[in-house]
Amino acid sequence: MADIVDLGAYGEDFTADPYPYYAALRARGPVHRVRLPDGREAWLVVGHDAARAALADPRLAKDWRATGMWEVREEQAPLSSNMLELDPPHHTRLRKLVAREFTAHRIEALRPRVQQITDGLLDAMLAAPDNRADLVEAFAFPLPLIVICELLGVPDMDRAEFRGWSNEMVAPTGQEAAQAAVRAMAGYLDGLIESKRREPGDDLLSALVHTADGSGHGDGSRDGSGGGGPGPDRLSRQELIGMAALLLVAGHETTVNLIANGMRALLDHPDQLAALRADFGLLEGAVEEMLRYDGPVEAATWRFTDGPVDIAGTVVPDRQFVLISLASADRDPGRFPAPDRFDITRDARGHVVFGHGIHYCLGAPLARLEGRIAVRALLERCPGLALDPDAGALSWRTGMLVRGPRRLPVRWD
Ligand code: HEM
Repeated sequence: MADIVDLGAYGEDFTADPYPYYAALRARGPVHRVRLPDGREAWLVVGHDAARAALADPRLAKDWRATGMWEVREEQAPLSSNMLELDPPHHTRLRKLVAREFTAHRIEALRPRVQQITDGLLDAMLAAPDNRADLVEAFAFPLPLIVICELLGVPDMDRAEFRGWSNEMVAPTGQEAAQAAVRAMAGYLDGLIESKRREPGDDLLSALVHTADGSGHGDGSRDGSGGGGPGPDRLSRQELIGMAALLLVAGHETTVNLIANGMRALLDHPDQLAALRADFGLLEGAVEEMLRYDGPVEAATWRFTDGPVDIAGTVVPDRQFVLISLASADRDPGRFPAPDRFDITRDARGHVVFGHGIHYCLGAPLARLEGRIAVRALLERCPGLALDPDAGALSWRTGMLVRGPRRLPVRWD
């Protein structure tokens, strides 16, 4: 078997700036056996062509139950009957139930509300007496969190607690803490779903509860395969919880980093910042370049081999974990010339930061809407916006799933 690359040995440098490490791996080939910083062994796919092909490869399964790889995800089982952890036909059924809510057309209708939330957050941030704030805490986190909570119907008072569990799930500080967060979130969502059943609101979760009840209140029973859902357009109780958890977590843990990483890149490149301030016609391209240059998702979620699979010329044995590096794909010089240059006028289309294939991000139109509104409002409302020079080095969120700073101290005039 191939030599193992110990990513953990790269230490904090790898978390702070993984790109040179990915470049070195990419130069050696597209598929590497690695030990992850958390000690697990996996196969890492790097480079644009290989990553894109692997993302859409039906031989790489998502349903960890069907492949019998319980050890990875069993602790997350209460939330994992969701489309991102299932293969067709169950993936297809679950995605279809919500796809129409997230089309570009439907999402565009949210624009006035997203703008209003953005304006309210900036009013509060700009009231700071010393013209300084942590952009993550004051703006990048609450914006997508409020939007997705409103869409699903999560009450205002529960959001802070929810955020704590969610953070722990995507960037765990320890196994026990992550498990406790999963249990707490599942319990909370179960209660919320019950309350929507008694008193439906005008929100997506209420609509989904109604769908589930159409089946005579799905009982969530499972045969251990993760599949076997209750019917073509129905949701079991476990699926309802899984759907709510996925939409809520995916809906904000990523966009926060689009705003934070994107603004960091922009503020770090004064010529690009000036160009955008001078011409908001560049906004859409600028947000695509932010996504490409330092995207919110470093690696796609786990995939598993169910039998030996040839990936870009390397045969990965049966029952292995496969991790696809989106960060390495979007800095591949074979796809994007001078990939380490942040250039808001380049054609950044073709990046894979939203994935590729059947699991392509359902929320991409929402993320783009939020990102564009957020970046423009920040530049328009905050004259002289800059990274705070007194803030010191950034501290990064752990793990290889999401990529973003914990805090992003900024100042303005
Ligand atoms: C900039 C922000 C975002 C980024 C970079 C992002 C990225 C991704 C990626 C890479 C995947 C595929 C993962 C894989 O194949 O392993 C994905 C899937 C998904 N995303 Fe996003 N996402 C973002 C925002 C959102 C938002 C706002 C929502 C809200 C609804 C959302 C909901 C989902 C869902 C439900 C899936 C699973 C789709 C499926 O399995 O068919 N995402 N996202």
